[in-house]
Amino acid sequence: MEKEFVGKKEFPVTCEVGRGLEGAVVNNTQIGYVDGKEGKLCYRGIRIEDLAKYSSFEETAYLLLFGKLPKRDELDGFKEKLKASRSIPQGIVELIKILPRDTHPMDLLMSAMVALAGYDKESQEVTLESEREVAIRVISKIATVTAAISRIRKEEKVIGPREDLSHAENFVYMITGKVDEEISKAIDMALILHADHGMNASTFTCMVLHSSLSDFYATIAGGIGSLKGPLHGGANERVIRMLQEIGTPSDVEEWYKRERKLRHKIPGFGHRVYHAYDPRARIFKEYCHKVATTERIKNLLATAEKLEEVEIRELGEKKGIFPNVDFYSGIVYKALGLEKSLFTPLFAVARVAGWTARVLEYMPENRIFRPRAEYYGPLKQEYVPIEKR
Ligand code: COA
Repeated sequence: MEKEFVGKKEFPVTCEVGRGLEGAVVNNTQIGYVDGKEGKLCYRGIRIEDLAKYSSFEETAYLLLFGKLPKRDELDGFKEKLKASRSIPQGIVELIKILPRDTHPMDLLMSAMVALAGYDKESQEVTLESEREVAIRVISKIATVTAAISRIRKEEKVIGPREDLSHAENFVYMITGKVDEEISKAIDMALILHADHGMNASTFTCMVLHSSLSDFYATIAGGIGSLKGPLHGGANERVIRMLQEIGTPSDVEEWYKRERKLRHKIPGFGHRVYHAYDPRARIFKEYCHKVATTERIKNLLATAEKLEEVEIRELGEKKGIFPNVDFYSGIVYKALGLEKSLFTPLFAVARVAGWTARVLEYMPENRIFRPRAEYYGPLKQEYVPIEKR
């Protein structure tokens, strides 16, 4: 029978810990549940499929932060706060402009987010009450900063936010200069799907950073730094590069043989927790079919589907390797006309909801994270002056 409720376990939970903290339990949480065996994901008990279909990013962020679906007036109030926080200081725009034009957008995002602390004095207080408000500002502003980065990199004029649009609509508007209902709907869904995902590397980074009672801007910048890596959020960009490098579905078998001989891991596959099909990948794959209208995108999708077939044939049963969230998301973004360098920042724009929710959940019983490393070197060595070494 399907499990309906998970009871609280005494903390610390007994667990075996492997390398990369595999199996370690660092906190009790009510925010989200990843069932890696069955390939299921829920936020606060609500299935990701239902949220993707019926919710909005604002509502999902509220759910993650406050633990329940908002009533109409609660949602309206939350949206108003997000809207009121959208603008960013000119100093942040200038900062993005003076950094080298080929700086990775995730590095720009990290720099800009941490610099925002200087404009938000309340952020240095670090109490639960003030952090709840700062969290909302961070969730709102990261979208504006990301859009500004996209415009500046293309040598285009930065577009300021509008208050009459939803979070996703405004995000798309600030990137493209246009209000587009269809693209905004797809981005809204992508933001929901990426909003939270257990104790992943970037979320844990945020937890560790904030556990020293550092502020939310430094915390989020740390999360962005972790997310950037190709083993984490950076995989979505790599997937598109890989599919373009492969060429067509008929080139897949040959390419795959070569890669496996070199023992390369295939971007967009595998997961520490899922040893089944990632439910988010299933939703993105379905969406790909809706938006694949040009020959170029149809070819990307067909190549991806062939690669999925080959990888599952070779490693699905054997090692539990299946597509993860990053495998099909990039194709959707590409079909919507977003440039590759925006894919991972977009992930951050969504995940900031999970990062802040989990930090806020941990705060009332905050204890600084401080594990150990097992030392295995000499204990008695003489100090040798430099001229005698
Ligand atoms: N392609 C082929 N084999 C893979 C693989 C992939 N994408 N991911 C994992 N494996 C294999 C490993 O080679 C390893 O095999 P081995 O036991 O014979 O050595 C086994 O599966 C376990 O992999 P490991 O790297 O130890 O898993 P992990 O939990 O430490 O890492 C990821 C998880 C996500 C980092 C890893 O699967 C990966 O690098 N995937 C590609 C990058 C990616 O898509 N990241 C986004 C994640 S949402």
